[in-house]
Amino acid sequence: MAEKVVIGNAELWHGDCREVLPMLPKHDLLLIDPPYGLGETLHKAGGSSRWGKHYDDGVPEWDHKPAYSRVLQSLECARDAIVWGGQFYGLPGNRCMLTWNKIIRNWSSSEAEHAWTTLDKPNRVFDYSHGQLATEGKHYHPTQKPVPLMAWCLDEAKYPLTVLDSFMGSGSTGVACAQLGLAFTGIEVDRRYFDAACERISRAQAQGTLLPPEEPRQPAQEGLL
Ligand SMILES: C[S@@+](CC[C@H](N)C(=O)[O-])C[C@H]1O[C@@H](n2cnc3c(N)ncnc32)[C@H](O)[C@@H]1O
Repeated sequence: MAEKVVIGNAELWHGDCREVLPMLPKHDLLLIDPPYGLGETLHKAGGSSRWGKHYDDGVPEWDHKPAYSRVLQSLECARDAIVWGGQFYGLPGNRCMLTWNKIIRNWSSSEAEHAWTTLDKPNRVFDYSHGQLATEGKHYHPTQKPVPLMAWCLDEAKYPLTVLDSFMGSGSTGVACAQLGLAFTGIEVDRRYFDAACERISRAQAQGTLLPPEEPRQPAQEGLL
């Protein structure tokens, strides 16, 4: 049974998104970073297995396989979408990809990550060194996205009024929404990451809005995805 926690204008669900999504209204923007299903690949390549619950083969449970059907179900729940790792889900051709350039070269991890979007604009690139993540403080999740990256996504999407993240993890999207004063709905199945998200979003809200949106914002319209 899913559990809901409300923190200011954030509605946080601990549970499986397949159960929670049918209960939610349509949002303006879906901004997600779903499991890419690379756990096994990274494990075989000698990647760290210090995070999270693991199967016997050492693959983190949440990254055991790509979240195909969960991503498709999530896409139905918003007018626009930004899907990190979108290339893993066989999504249709689109106009705009968002790229995170990690700046660092010749290391074992990806030098860049791409997000599939429904945005009607040219491709965009965000430069942010993986090393800068350290300046954000404690790490709560093995694939924690930088908050400035998620804030940049919200800027590119023209500051939607309502934002949904159905694979919330430790809540970087929710923290960015708190900093921008945007209403946020997050869903996370793993209790430890859910608790971390509650803590981070609560702290961000207490610090107040940092960057008020300058662009005019449009309300959601049903059935335009
Ligand atoms: C790639 S991580 C997201 C990390 C996040 N961007 C952050 O900054 O912390 C994907 C998350 O989706 C969660 N997840 C996987 N399947 C889920 C489901 N059916 N419902 C809700 N959450 C799910 C996993 O537990 C994992 O924390």
